[in-house]
This record gives sequence, C-alpha cells and structure tokens, in this order.
Amino acid sequence: MNPPLPKPRLLIARAVFPEVIQRLEACFEVDSNQADTVLDATQLAGRLGDKQALLSTAGDVIDEALLARCPSLRICANLAVGFGNLDLAAMSARGIVATHTPGVLTETTADFGFALLMATARRLGEGERCVREGQWTKWSVDFMAGQDIHGSTLGILGMGRIGQGVARRGAHGFGMRVIYHSRTRLSPADEAALPARFVGMDELLREADHLVLTLAHSAATHHLIDARALARMKPGATLVNIARGGVVDEAALVEALRSGGIAAAGLDVFEHEPAVHPGLLSLPNVVLTPHMASASRATRLRMAHLAADNLIGFFETGRALTPVPAPALSAPA
Ligand code: DGY
Repeated sequence: MNPPLPKPRLLIARAVFPEVIQRLEACFEVDSNQADTVLDATQLAGRLGDKQALLSTAGDVIDEALLARCPSLRICANLAVGFGNLDLAAMSARGIVATHTPGVLTETTADFGFALLMATARRLGEGERCVREGQWTKWSVDFMAGQDIHGSTLGILGMGRIGQGVARRGAHGFGMRVIYHSRTRLSPADEAALPARFVGMDELLREADHLVLTLAHSAATHHLIDARALARMKPGATLVNIARGGVVDEAALVEALRSGGIAAAGLDVFEHEPAVHPGLLSLPNVVLTPHMASASRATRLRMAHLAADNLIGFFETGRALTPVPAPALSAPA
C-alpha cells in the first residue's frame, strides 16, 4: 500500500472562524495566523514561501514581488468579493488561481449601504454625538434638518450584485427613482424589475440626490470621483462609498464637503485603511465606519466557508468554485 500523499501546505493570513480552520485542517497542513496580526510584505513572504495555498483577506497585498518569493503557490482564495489587493496579471502569468467570495455577502452589504445612506442623509451621527455630548438644549424648527430619502433620486455607480441590492431597497422600500451607470448595462428585464434607468456618468452625477458607489476599484476606476466629478453633483447631494476607498479622491472630497459642494458623505472604505484622511475626521457632515458593510457574523462565516470551499475544491477536483472572472480584471462586485 502506498503511503498517503502529503497534504498541501496552506497559509491562513488572518484569523478565521475555528470551524473553518477545522475543515481546512482535514485537507491541508495549516499555518494559521490566529493571532490576527497584520503581516507586512516580509512576514507574509516568510510564511508563504513554502506554501501551495493562501487564504488572504482584502488587506493582504498579493503582488509580483511577493509571488516571486512564493514559487510553490498555486491558489489564493481571497476572503472578500473585492479583489483589488490581488495582482491578477502577475498571478495568471504564474498560473496561480485567484478566487473570491461573491453572492454570499450581497444582501448584508446592501443592507449596510442603505443604513449608511440613511445615517448620512438624515445626520444620524451628528444627532447621536450631540445628545451624547450634552449639546442638545432645545428643539428648533431646522435643527438637524437633513435630506429626504423617500421619493428622492438614488444614483448607483457600479450595478453588480450589491448595487442591485441597494437599488431594490431604494425602489421598493422607499419609493426612490433609481438611475445607474455601470460598465455593463443590465438586461431590459432586469432594469424593469428593479426598476432602474441606465444613464451616462454626467446625468448620474447631475441628477442623483444620493449617490452610492458599489463599483470595483481598478486602474480604470481609481479616483473616478475626483474634484471634477464632485463639482458636477447637486449641492444637497450625499455620497456613500461601500466599494473601495481608492475610487474617491479623498482630498477632493474633503474640499467638497467643507465648501458645501455636496451636503454629506458616508464612508465605509478608505484609500489607506485603516488610516483615514485627517480632513474627514474633523468634518461634522461625514459618517465614518471601519469597512464593516459585510460584517454580520452569519455572512462573514459564509464568506470564510466559501473561501475554504474554493481551496478544498481546487485541490480535490482541480476546479475552484468561484474563481475571479477571467476577463474581468476589474469586475463590479
Ligand atoms: C469585500 O468582500 O470585498 C468586502 O469589502 C470585505 O473586504
């Protein structure tokens, strides 16, 4: 009888749920960073150098310099729907498979996007701080007056699964008129079902009372919302970003919020996470949250299991379940 084949070696870059590690340990020799320290490039290379598989998170930068030090690596399973942290061209040149976790986080993330939109437009953060800090002394007719959600125009930039989830909530729950712009236009049937109307970028910026960003970050979408784009938005508009920080020029946003170019912003993602542009921290008309849109326990567990399914499937059958779509080096979430 032949001795059993050695298990492939797997690095789990950040802490994940014990039940997921248990599943992975049945198939892999696991090195798990359960201490949850953020590994810098040198530490990551040190631990990944002899591994065939990686379970990464959105904060782990997997680039050519790292890959050059990891000759055995065959698959990287990203525990995120976004994959802007992966250099897909470098991975594909080395025959390394990249996977992500689409679908399982859509509704949770759309829920949060809508919560952030409401908090931003209705000044929830400001109101809460005012009460907590003992600043609430009297009722006044225009005190904490914000922007309406119901009946307003919701603009969505990037109409992937999450964008459609936000659109559904706006149209069906709050009677919003939904317009969108996206690299790929929905089918007429899908547009009618939401309902949502495809518009050009100019019209989106000009007409939206609330603009929610759900597009992927790539070289093509980097700083898409810059000073010029912000200047084309309504002065009373709110901007919500649940996509990736790099889509927005944060310095330009600070300026637009300071000058009244737009009314308010709700940001769950930042260009240099976990650092936040200092200008944003001092502005009252911004709601800031720590990249938590998909953070319900059930959803994060589903994401971790899907990442594990990808790793196990790849080594058992040669096929990963949810590879990053091939032509879409920048597919919308
Ligand atoms: C995602 O899945 O892309 C979320 O933003 C978590 O990183």
